[in-house]
Amino acid sequence: MLRIAIFASGNGSNAENIIRHFNFSDRGAQVALVVSNRTDAGVLDRATRLGVPAQVLTRGDFNSPDHLLPMLQRYGIDFIVLAGFLMMIPEWLIKEYKHRIVNIHPSLLPKFGGKGMYGINVHKAVVAARETQTGITVHYVSEQYDEGEIIFQASVPLRPSDTPEDVEKKIHQLEANHFPIAIEKIIAGL
Ligand code: GAR
Repeated sequence: MLRIAIFASGNGSNAENIIRHFNFSDRGAQVALVVSNRTDAGVLDRATRLGVPAQVLTRGDFNSPDHLLPMLQRYGIDFIVLAGFLMMIPEWLIKEYKHRIVNIHPSLLPKFGGKGMYGINVHKAVVAARETQTGITVHYVSEQYDEGEIIFQASVPLRPSDTPEDVEKKIHQLEANHFPIAIEKIIAGL
C-alpha cells in the first residue's frame, strides 16, 4: 500500500476530497499524513475528523532535512501531494522525492503562475484579463514555482459576468472532479 502525505496551508477542501477518495476504498494507496505550516489551517480539523494524523511544522522545521525527512520516513511516506500549500519546497526534498511530489495550481499554466499567484489572487488576475476560460493544472514540483512538468489539465468556460468568487467555485468543482483521479493515475504509473 503506497503511502501519501498531503501538504496544505489552508481550508483543505482538496485534502478532504483526496482522503475520501483513497482512504475509504481499496485504491492501492492511502493518505497517511497531513502536513501544514499553519496552526489555524482548516485542513487540520478535516484530517482529524477523517482519522488522518496531522503535523504542523514551523518554517525552520520544514526547511530542515534533519526534521522533515525523518518525519516522512517515520510515516513511511512514498508520495507527496501539495494541495494549496504556500511554502516553497526545498531542493533537497525535490531530489529525495524525484517525480514523487505533485502540485495543483488553479489556472491553466503557464498562464497565471509564479510567486504570489495562489487561490483568489489567481482568479482575480483571470477575471482582470477577461479570459474566456480557466482551469486547473497538476504538475510535478520543480525548483521554480509552478514550472515543473505538466501532467494533467482540465478547463472550464467563464462568463463575462463571473466574479473571482464565481471562478473560485468553478475551480473547486473542477478540482473535486479531477484531482483525486489524476493522483490515482500518477501513482498507478510509478
Ligand atoms: C486550491 O484551489 C488550489 O488549487 C490552490 O489553492 C486552493 C486551496 O484550496 N493552490 C494554489 O493556488 C497553489 N499556487 P483548499 O485548501 O480548499 O484545497
